[in-house]
Amino acid sequence: MRKLVYLVASTLDGFIAGPDGTDPTGPGGFWPIPQDYLEHLIAEYPEALPVQAREALGISGPGAHFDCVVEGRKSYEIGLAAGIPDAFPHLRHIVFSRTLTEAPAPAVELVADDPITTIRALKAQGGKDIWLVGGAQLAGALYREIDRIVLKLAPLTIGSGVPIFSAGAEFDPRAWALTDRTVIPSGAMFLTYDR
Ligand SMILES: NC(=O)c1ccc[n+]([C@@H]2O[C@H](COP(=O)([O-])OP(=O)(O)OC[C@H]3O[C@@H](n4cnc5c(N)ncnc54)[C@H](OP(=O)(O)O)[C@@H]3O)[C@@H](O)[C@H]2O)c1
Repeated sequence: MRKLVYLVASTLDGFIAGPDGTDPTGPGGFWPIPQDYLEHLIAEYPEALPVQAREALGISGPGAHFDCVVEGRKSYEIGLAAGIPDAFPHLRHIVFSRTLTEAPAPAVELVADDPITTIRALKAQGGKDIWLVGGAQLAGALYREIDRIVLKLAPLTIGSGVPIFSAGAEFDPRAWALTDRTVIPSGAMFLTYDR
């Protein structure tokens, strides 16, 4: 069965970005991307790299795990602000928004409907897994639909910021099975948890 996979980078204290909601991995950002981290991503999740990185690295072809990516409007707009209206042209690209009326790139699908209904329909269609980019608000809305979490856990704490799930997500404890793990020399861990 096709899974919804929340593949997300987190600090040790459970944040996916700083309080201002900007991209912390960009130039001057506080979140370093070591070479071995990048190499692991290239080897395992080449489809999770944005188009400009894939082109620079000579990566092409379909995804190893995913053929579809879903993200919230605020996460999408980070790429948009950097001049990249479709960071993942190699995947079906869905952006959830109730305020955007026109997709900035022809292949980007805007969805204003309930994300749960949309994800259930995508799962029923079959195919490779669906990558949930985030952010916290969309992940909170889809909390119950997530089948796998792949945490890219950085050896970093920041004290406060955007959490893995938005503070508005409902309280609903769930147990997860650790099904894969990789520790890389620079100190990050890639942890796969399945429902
Ligand atoms: N570390 C990582 O791997 C990672 C990954 C992704 C994002 N991030 C970070 O996460 C932050 C953004 O996260 P965020 O939580 O602020 O925002 P977000 O989840 O990316 O986007 C929120 C927006 O998505 C739309 N949305 C959310 N729930 C919806 C629903 N139920 N139905 C329809 N539309 C819905 C709404 O758009 P409208 O307002 O247009 O309706 C909402 O304002 C950024 O700082 C980004 O850098 C980090």
